[in-house]
Formats: sequence, structure tokens, C-alpha cells
Amino acid sequence: MRRKIITISLIIASIAILQSCKKDKTEVDFDAVLYSEITAGGYTYYQSGNLLSGASPSPHGSFKLRFNSTALAALDSTGELSAGSSFPAGSIIVKEIFSDSTINLYAVMKKDPSNVNAGSGWLWAEYRTDGSVVFTTVNKGNGCISCHSGTPNRDLVRTFDLH
Ligand code: HEC
Repeated sequence: MRRKIITISLIIASIAILQSCKKDKTEVDFDAVLYSEITAGGYTYYQSGNLLSGASPSPHGSFKLRFNSTALAALDSTGELSAGSSFPAGSIIVKEIFSDSTINLYAVMKKDPSNVNAGSGWLWAEYRTDGSVVFTTVNKGNGCISCHSGTPNRDLVRTFDLH
């Protein structure tokens, strides 16, 4: 009887361990992956990195904008995405939102249509500069897209028509 109980306990314990390993493998932390991508090098600033003031209906405040090389390659000779064009998958746009001349928040869009967390083809996130998540990609842009899809926008990006 005692042996039986021990055997059964061991089986249950093994199943529990196997399940937790499986979970570690399949659940990717997309917020952490994206944060490491936005803090890597290879970005180019919009309008030479001038500090721009948020334009109505922006909730974001003063900002600088930067593009990774994939997003940059989609811009035309004036440094904007032509109306009617789209950013290719892998494009990352980082908005550095300033408060008292230091970065207070990163608002991020990454074109990643096949990602489980994509909302209208983009990942949407916000971070503090220590990497802590203010708005998770898991929300799929809920609360962002309704405004970013307002007229005019270019592939849900609003800066080009306002700045
Ligand atoms: C009420 C409208 C509104 C909401 C809500 C909003 N945004 Fe924006 N966002 C803007 C506007 C307008 C701009 C253009 C630049 C500016 O003037 O601030 C912008 C710019 C951006 C940019 C730079 C690319 C671009 O579109 O120009 C990013 C990245 C961004 N927002 C991310 C987000 C994220 C992530 C959320 C949700 C957590 C969000 N935004 C919610 C209005 C909004």
C-alpha cells in the first residue's frame, strides 16, 4: 500500500515537472524580446533627432522617433513612408517620449503580422527605460489601434502627416 502511494506520488511529480518544462519552452516573452530589440543599435532618427511636440490627437507628449534599418528602407527620399505604402515585416518604430529633457517612456510598434500578439499587423508596447512594461504586447494594441487608425494614417503610423 505504502509503495503504491509512493509510486503514484512519483508519477504525479514527474508529470508536473514535464508540464512546467513544456510551458517554459512554448511561452515566449514577446515584451522582453521586443525590449532587447529596441535597445540594440542600428536605428536612424526621424528629422535628424529633433525633439518634436506631440500633435493633436496625440496622447504621447514631446518625442523623438527612430526607425530600425528595415523600417528605414521603406521610407522615400523625403524620409517618410509614401501614402498608400506599407512597412515590411520586421520594421520597428520607437518613439522616445521625453519629460524634462530625459526619456520617460518608449512607445513601440513592430510590424510582425504572424505574431500571436499582433493587432492589425503590428506589435504595440510601452516601456520605462529600465525595461519594465507599461503596456504589454499581449493587449494586441487594444487602446492604441482605435486612434492610430484615424484619418490620416500611413500603415497605422501617424507621424508623417503631423510632423
Ligand atoms: C488618442 C490617440 C492615440 C492613442 C490612444 C495612441 N497613440 Fe500613438 N500616436 C498618436 C499620434 C497622433 C502620433 C503621431 C506623433 C505625435 O504627434 O505624437 C502617435 C505616434 C506613435 C508612435 C510613432 C509612430 C507613429 O504612429 O507616428 C508610436 C510607436 C506610438 N504612437 C505607439 C502607441 C502605442 C503603443 C499606443 C497604445 C499603448 C498608442 N500609441 C496610443 C496617437 C495615439
